[in-house]
Amino acid sequence: MTRPAPRDRMIVALDLPTVAEARDMARRLGDAASFYKIGMELVYGGGLDLVRALVGEGKQVFLDLKLHDIPATVAKATAQVARLGATYLTVHAYPQTMKAAREAAAGSTTKILGVTVLTSMDDADLAEAGYAHRAADLVARRADQARAIGIDGLILSPEEVGAMRARVGASLILVTPGIRPAGAALGDQKRAATPAAAIAAGADALVVGRPITQADDPTAAARAITAEIAAAG
Ligand code: C5P
Repeated sequence: MTRPAPRDRMIVALDLPTVAEARDMARRLGDAASFYKIGMELVYGGGLDLVRALVGEGKQVFLDLKLHDIPATVAKATAQVARLGATYLTVHAYPQTMKAAREAAAGSTTKILGVTVLTSMDDADLAEAGYAHRAADLVARRADQARAIGIDGLILSPEEVGAMRARVGASLILVTPGIRPAGAALGDQKRAATPAAAIAAGADALVVGRPITQADDPTAAARAITAEIAAAG
């Protein structure tokens, strides 16, 4: 697999309250960014038109919808997302859900990324929810299942990415949020990594939100991160 250009390995999370603000941010970033993540908040606030607009401008879009439902519904929703032209779609990494999404996305340009275990869940939360596995074991189990089922990749925290790259080799695309350039505010990210560290650990692409969208100069912040990816990769 040829490595994408550094700019295509930085996915800007458009976690902004309104579609108008998200649209403005994308306009402001211009050529400094080529890939955007749009999540549930924006989608439920009218963000699908923004997805169409960005794709129409030649940008790539990661739709972070974390689908999970009966297989028929997951398949139909995945087919709709594929028609929108999104590059990545997230699903919860349950075997039934991953299989349904993979089959529905086949033949399209949309790639399916699995969310193994939400990073808000620790061992106690999993036990409370009725799981017999500890978080680290469940992440590994679902990563193996993702690979066996043949989805395209996984979303992983910077903490998990090194071990998971060693486990799955080049077979899966690994996308990592929780990125903070040296000296940037952590916000609510507790175990952040720098762009260079996440790339060195084996991440294919990084999701970066506030370090860009809350910067005094978002374009300069985006260009600095792209430069760091280029130097590390
Ligand atoms: O602003 P910040 O760079 O922290 O944004 C990170 C993005 O990645 C947000 O959209 C957040 O929801 C998402 N994310 C995360 N940690 C995870 C999964 C997703 O920060 N484990």
